Amino acid sequence: MSAVELASGVYRIAANIGNKDLFEGIWPIPDGVSINSYLVKGEKTALIDLVKDWDDALSQINEQLSSVGAEFKDIDYLILNHMEPDHTGWLAELKKQNPNLEILCSKKAVPLVKAFYKIEDGVTSVGSGDSLDLGGGKVLLFEDTPNIHWPETMVTFEKSTGILFSCDAFGSFGQVKDRVFDDELTMEDREFYERETLRYYANIVSTFSSFVLKAIEKLGGLDIRMIAPSHGIIWRKNPSEVIEQYRRLASYHNGPAEKEITLIWSSMYGNTEKLVRPLIEAVESEGVKINVHRVPQEHISFVLADAWKSAGLIFGMPTYEYRMFPPMAHVLDIFDRSHVKFRKIFRFGSFGWSGGAQKQFHEMTEALKWECIEPVEWQGAADEQIIQKAVEQARELARQIKNME
Ligand code: FEO
Repeated sequence: MSAVELASGVYRIAANIGNKDLFEGIWPIPDGVSINSYLVKGEKTALIDLVKDWDDALSQINEQLSSVGAEFKDIDYLILNHMEPDHTGWLAELKKQNPNLEILCSKKAVPLVKAFYKIEDGVTSVGSGDSLDLGGGKVLLFEDTPNIHWPETMVTFEKSTGILFSCDAFGSFGQVKDRVFDDELTMEDREFYERETLRYYANIVSTFSSFVLKAIEKLGGLDIRMIAPSHGIIWRKNPSEVIEQYRRLASYHNGPAEKEITLIWSSMYGNTEKLVRPLIEAVESEGVKINVHRVPQEHISFVLADAWKSAGLIFGMPTYEYRMFPPMAHVLDIFDRSHVKFRKIFRFGSFGWSGGAQKQFHEMTEALKWECIEPVEWQGAADEQIIQKAVEQARELARQIKNME
């Protein structure tokens, strides 16, 4: 595959990673992920962000560099917008091959370059307002955008072309093949990237939503004509579309999210499961969309994506040894880390010889500021009265979601 030209002298040099590994060692990528670097050629040459030697990333990158007559040894500057190893993993080897390489990164990234790669020489810190003139009309401006997604993160903006190299911000999961730009996508592609942007956002970025909103505000002063993120497609026709998607997703951190409900359930012997179908029907009878996930059968990555966009959550789980069914404790731990806050909640579940799930549920979610309606718990098998009570509570939750401002 050849490098893709974004503008004269600006190229996307990217690796498509397959689906056999988990991203960050935790998140499934059934459709892979792209890791994008960008080559900017003036009189000097800069590479913006790097890759990790993962899958056959390096051979892909080498092939694309060759396609524009470049090699790693020719690069004058490496701009590191972000230190996470998906974008820096090959740094020590690059520095070995190109000892004169000058590395530019934020002030907070400098100690990380040393900690991860034992490199101290040829590292210069840059920050908001700093620029690098490559000659030939290419000027790179830097802007600190902390916590998107680590504290040291910055973005790079090329002045003459209006291209924002945004690193993790405005990215998505999913490989990018022949259709690289937003204006080349089919309807099916658009739905795919919208879904994978949501999942990427919920899994990777959601914890830092308030910083996303601040960064969008801060970048508003730039004349952005194209957005080139480090994961996913390039937005050249309508960059404001992905900015608005990110703004909307970030806004869900303090509610309100979308008028839909995600039901997450687990069951040991079918006593909790028995209520799942009646509760789905109860929510749907109020005209509210419901997403349903069973854990641990379904991965938290997909559960979190639906929960992030839902204003209402229903949890069904039995008590297990005086506490919640363990896979559901994992769900709540991830929701806590990801700041799934300010949701409307209903919980139901059975218990055997003793309850206890509700107590732990309350303890684990107190900080999330959830608005919970009365739970329904029962010993052993649910009778018709219990089922009807839970159905009424699910309807009540659906009505609250429907009538939200
Ligand atoms: Fe794609 Fe936070 O690294």
